[in-house]
Amino acid sequence: MTVNCRVNTDLAAQVVADIEAEGGRAIWLQADVADPAAVRALFDANDEAFGGVDVVVNNAGMMFLAPFAEMTDEAFDRMMATNVKGSFNVLREAARRTRDGGRIVSLSSGAAVQRPPAYGPYAASKATQECYSGSLAKELGSRRISVVPIAPGAVNTTLFTDDRPQAWIQGVINQTPFQRLAEPEDIANAIAALCTSDTAWINSGQPVHANGGLG
Ligand SMILES: NC(=O)c1ccc[n+]([C@@H]2O[C@H](COP(=O)([O-])OP(=O)(O)OC[C@H]3O[C@@H](n4cnc5c(N)ncnc54)[C@H](OP(=O)(O)O)[C@@H]3O)[C@@H](O)[C@H]2O)c1
Repeated sequence: MTVNCRVNTDLAAQVVADIEAEGGRAIWLQADVADPAAVRALFDANDEAFGGVDVVVNNAGMMFLAPFAEMTDEAFDRMMATNVKGSFNVLREAARRTRDGGRIVSLSSGAAVQRPPAYGPYAASKATQECYSGSLAKELGSRRISVVPIAPGAVNTTLFTDDRPQAWIQGVINQTPFQRLAEPEDIANAIAALCTSDTAWINSGQPVHANGGLG
């Protein structure tokens, strides 16, 4: 497995160590997905280490929230560079290199459907994952490659919790049937399930909602 990061090299190295401790093989690299050359180099390194790719998880994302009247050009451009251009860079290499029968999973978001106030540009960047995946699924279907956008609800990571008052987070928790946020493992488990041969018929090109019932 090849693990990518942008700045958090310690965490990437720890993920690799955890995989190796379980008997797997992994490498980590540092590639800004907004840079097409860096993404090509990332896939090249993976090909060199493992001889090809069967599963791509297109996960990199940023979230900057603000009402339209207050959103800065800088925040908008940084978010789009990762979420829209970066995702395109990853999916282009995935389309070129994923072996027949493989899986390509991209991280969308429930926000793409819910569109809360202050989420407009972020929601649009996540809806993009569903457009990309729908089209790419049709391009790659003849090679039995399933392309699935997965839409988490509220996940307990800094992307969701930073700068948020606890009362606001509790309000979201109160809307969930399970009365909790998702943990990253909940989403990782759903993605892993989508990557088994048993789930090959699940919604190629259509979003899978992994939100614990948060509507
Ligand atoms: N948390 C939620 O509630 C939630 C809900 C729905 C969807 N999502 C989506 O789930 C995905 C993962 O989010 P998360 O909650 O795990 O957030 P996170 O903890 O902030 O993780 C974001 C990840 O993306 C990487 N990244 C960001 N920009 C990058 C770039 N330009 N190039 C390469 N890597 C980059 C980060 O690497 P570094 O740390 O090295 O920068 C980090 O590994 C995102 O696409 C997000 O939109 C999250």
